[in-house]
Amino acid sequence: MYDVAKIRDDFPILSRKVNGKPLVYLDNGASAQKPRVVIDAMNKAYEEEYANVHRGLHFLSTIATEKYEAVRGIVARFLGAPDPEEIVFTTGTTEGINLVSYGWAAPRLQAGDEIVLSLLEHHANIVPWHFLRERQGVVLKWVEPEADGALDPGKVIDAIGPKSKLVAVTHMSNVTGTLVDVAAICRGARAKGVPVLVDGSQGSVHRPVSIAEIGCDFYAITGHKLYGPSGSGAIWISKDRMREMRPFMGGGDMIREVHRDSVTYADPPMKFEAGTPGIVQQIGMGVALEYLMALGMENVAGHEAALRDYARQRLRGLNWLNLQGDAPGKGAIFSFTLDGPAHAHDISTVLDQRGIAVRAGTHCAMPLLAHYGLTATCRASFGLYNTEAEVDALISGLELCHELFA
Ligand code: ALA
Repeated sequence: MYDVAKIRDDFPILSRKVNGKPLVYLDNGASAQKPRVVIDAMNKAYEEEYANVHRGLHFLSTIATEKYEAVRGIVARFLGAPDPEEIVFTTGTTEGINLVSYGWAAPRLQAGDEIVLSLLEHHANIVPWHFLRERQGVVLKWVEPEADGALDPGKVIDAIGPKSKLVAVTHMSNVTGTLVDVAAICRGARAKGVPVLVDGSQGSVHRPVSIAEIGCDFYAITGHKLYGPSGSGAIWISKDRMREMRPFMGGGDMIREVHRDSVTYADPPMKFEAGTPGIVQQIGMGVALEYLMALGMENVAGHEAALRDYARQRLRGLNWLNLQGDAPGKGAIFSFTLDGPAHAHDISTVLDQRGIAVRAGTHCAMPLLAHYGLTATCRASFGLYNTEAEVDALISGLELCHELFA
């Protein structure tokens, strides 16, 4: 039984007020709040168990290393991935995708080679590919969403041609909540011999993920959206792709031997993890993932599907509100504009006065906003602790915006 009231008690920040009103936190797409178990585990790590990892033989270093390394197994379990050695720790999805861009794609792609992308992508899954366009003449091939925001996997597969070397696609749009059938894309891409990178920043937060079922080559996640700390994250990389990769950053921890005129590298995954990592951040992410698995991601998905349906019905009832991308298969993420002069920033400010946190702007997805002919939208993104009462608070805040700006 999914007890949202009890779950809310796990998140200390949800009981605070903002501008004198109870906080209604609907900016989970940007970053989610943290349960007490994560905060406590991080405090404990700093207060009782902190030292650098992989470097010391002393007591504290040994405990810190064990706790930190255990997170690889937790991430693998969370992603339904077969082997913890395929998990590379990162500071978040952005670093994970940059690692693939620098470590796998840059040495392999030539001028004229293509990367197939969807227009739903976040800048983190665009800009690292632009680097290759600018520096190496790689071509970015874009696939547009349907009018309702859905992404047709067939169109992505059709876009894969003889010069295509990679498909880079989101599992769920951070703007519209569109859920992408990445398994179908992977089947089609595999048949054409092209690897697929999945940006799991949003998809992993809202539904169970099984790498084995998806069949991708790279799957990147970020801890701070998964109710863990900022600065934590991971990317799952298949063994085959890992073997093809060169390191992205050089430094301590990723080497076997360093000499004046030569260097050899540690085995993967550490080959791709230079320098002292985010030790406590990753430990915190591990606790967050354990928390999610204890709740059951299928239960989280069920709760959020009910919220999505309720929010969609209420938002559709406002005939002066325009939803961008409202495909049937989507997460509980809604982007919208209002008829009339209200800018997304105005809406966000009015809602904030009522304690309601939403995001306004381009959501790090300018090509998608341009596709909709917009420079900004307002976005309400729900998480596992949100309630129908909070949907009602949002609707009432939007009605006030309509009155003020109409
Ligand atoms: N990627 C984050 C968002 O969608 C920052 O808001």
